[in-house]
Amino acid sequence: MIYLDNAATTRPFEEVIRETEQVMRRTFGNPSAVHQLGVEAEEKLEASRKAVADSLQVSPDEVFFTSGGTETNNLVLKGIGERYARKGKHLVATAVEHKSVLNVLRAMENQGYEVTYIPVDRRGIIDLEALKQALREDTLLVSVMHVNNETGAVQPIDGVADILRNQDHPPLLHVDAVQSFGKIPVHPKQSRVDLLTVSSHKIHGPKGIGALYKQSQVDLKPLIDGGGQEKGLRSGTENLPAIAGFARAVELNFEDVIAQQNHMHHLKELLREQLHHSIPDAVVNTPDDPHAAPHVLNVSFPGVKGEVLVRQLESAGIYASTGSACTSSRESVSHVLKAMGLAKDQLEGAMRFSFSSLNREEEPDQLMEKLVPAVKRLRRLGNIQS
Ligand SMILES: Cc1ncc(COP(=O)(O)O)c(C=O)c1O
Repeated sequence: MIYLDNAATTRPFEEVIRETEQVMRRTFGNPSAVHQLGVEAEEKLEASRKAVADSLQVSPDEVFFTSGGTETNNLVLKGIGERYARKGKHLVATAVEHKSVLNVLRAMENQGYEVTYIPVDRRGIIDLEALKQALREDTLLVSVMHVNNETGAVQPIDGVADILRNQDHPPLLHVDAVQSFGKIPVHPKQSRVDLLTVSSHKIHGPKGIGALYKQSQVDLKPLIDGGGQEKGLRSGTENLPAIAGFARAVELNFEDVIAQQNHMHHLKELLREQLHHSIPDAVVNTPDDPHAAPHVLNVSFPGVKGEVLVRQLESAGIYASTGSACTSSRESVSHVLKAMGLAKDQLEGAMRFSFSSLNREEEPDQLMEKLVPAVKRLRRLGNIQS
């Protein structure tokens, strides 16, 4: 099996599985309990929080565990919207955000909030001039993803922060860093980001766990009320096995983060070269360095339907996707590639190959052995049918 769908999710590291299992067996106390089992669980919880905080170079007080990227994005957008509604009801986001941002904003628009969507260029990168124009006195929050999940395009977060800082009433800055965490440097303090989203299952941790970084002066209305865990921001008994597994994944990712990033980048560039050589009319939708993350290569094969190619590769034991996991099963074309202005056959023929540190050197070659004949076959069939 060749797994090239790491932007959708990653295989958990063996050590993560062991850690999760051990916490279930041994550290099963409730972190809020005052007896010894509770104290041990609380220690594990706080050690895990410190591991995540260290990787982001922030204080553990500023890290809150949630059920993942989707919940964190919901918490930020709804939580800021409600907490600061008296100040204004205007939000700004890019047109290429993940659905866990875009669909929350759509729901908020139905409740009377106003949202301005910033367009992107052909590379999928936002127009900073358009961002400047979009800002108003009543803008509460600007939400910009760090790395796009479909193309790997990197947004200029520091440039965004500079623009916001120069406003008379600077809005808050939220960054969805789900695809950049562990792939390129993510330092919210240095980049003057107020709120940041990370998720465990994209870095070989368990699913259903993630975190919010929130700088201490920012206030949020919680989504979930209850026992007041996570300093009242996210009630519910903490999912300690997943939290500890997430922390272990963070430690393993950041132990030799540069080597892992170089490995992914190397595989991506090998694939890019081979595509250029063997399928010269394939169009690479991922921008060139330094505007792309190391792990994603989005490619259009004009004359081929991406979904059909995914199935063909799957029958050869190769797992890739047409775009984001949700887009690929529910919508026929990607809102991201559409926003980039791709032509119809490039939209329909788009595929995403995404790497992790677990992919092997020979896999781009092995992919090409199956990909080249599959593209040829599908084009032949397409011509016969049309
Ligand atoms: C950019 C981005 N944001 C948010 C999410 C949602 O994260 P989770 O799957 O942890 O809810 C994803 C996952 O697909 C993503 O790629």
